[in-house]
Amino acid sequence: MRTITHQHELREVLRNIRDGGAAIGLVPTMGNLHAGHMELVKTAKANTDCIVCTIFVNPLQFGADEDLTAYPRTLEADKNKLIALEVDFLFAPSVDALFGSNPQQQSRIHVPGLSEGFCGSSRPGHFDGVATVVNKLLNIVKPHQAFFGLKDYQQFLVIRKMVSDLALDVEIVGVETLRAESGLALSSRNNYLSEEQRQTAALIYRCLVDTAASIKAGDRNYHDLEASARNRLAGADIRPDYFSICNAINLAAAVEDESHFVILAAGYIGPSRLIDNIRFEIS
Ligand code: PAJ
Repeated sequence: MRTITHQHELREVLRNIRDGGAAIGLVPTMGNLHAGHMELVKTAKANTDCIVCTIFVNPLQFGADEDLTAYPRTLEADKNKLIALEVDFLFAPSVDALFGSNPQQQSRIHVPGLSEGFCGSSRPGHFDGVATVVNKLLNIVKPHQAFFGLKDYQQFLVIRKMVSDLALDVEIVGVETLRAESGLALSSRNNYLSEEQRQTAALIYRCLVDTAASIKAGDRNYHDLEASARNRLAGADIRPDYFSICNAINLAAAVEDESHFVILAAGYIGPSRLIDNIRFEIS
């Protein structure tokens, strides 16, 4: 694996690879890699010939009161994981190398609608920061396919809409969420939790599964289902941010005869804000 820190160098080497006919796969991350990230790399390897993984803790997507400085940075351990999976290139620029000395002066991308509820409400500007950095990485790497986790489902939809709206020439591929045995979705933010808190956190997925089962069994009282899941979470010391039954394509509130569902959940446990979701169809 070759590690590159400057965009011009990466552009140069990838130009030759692309001209040689290889399909390039991009896996953007913020590092502190875990098995969930590795699923993205494995899917990329199964679909493309040359894998570029990026590690960049993007300041534009963190709010002033969020964990930008505390966000775990584990570059050496991350490199070893990527080498073990035979990733071809790691792009790990500094903030200065990617955004210059004043990141706040970057042009921004705003994706209307999909960016605005849920994590967009709790984290103002977050998805503008995500869309901006992903757009920049896509422009530097020019991959044939780029891989994103469905754990961050709203992020996945925002990126897909940006690519469609701006006519970017890349296919966005969603990868299923990897979970611990307890059901807890793997996340870098689980590192902030004690063992006991991790056990508690597994309740988020259980609430998603149970609510989906109720809907599949015919219950359409979405408001009551959402309220009872929120109460169940609050009763276990998980401060719910949202628990919402939605249409899986546009994230509008689910209608009575909905067929494409996503249930989105976010909650705080101790110092961590965790998110998860479940998707299913009813015909
Ligand atoms: P990060 O949180 O590091 O996640 C990188 C990618 O890994 C995202 O696409 C995320 O959805 C995926 N991922 C995380 N946990 C996963 C799990 N348990 N199973 C499957 N995939 C999982 O998301 C970001 O970084 C950033 O916002 C980024 C897109 C890199 C832009 O800065």
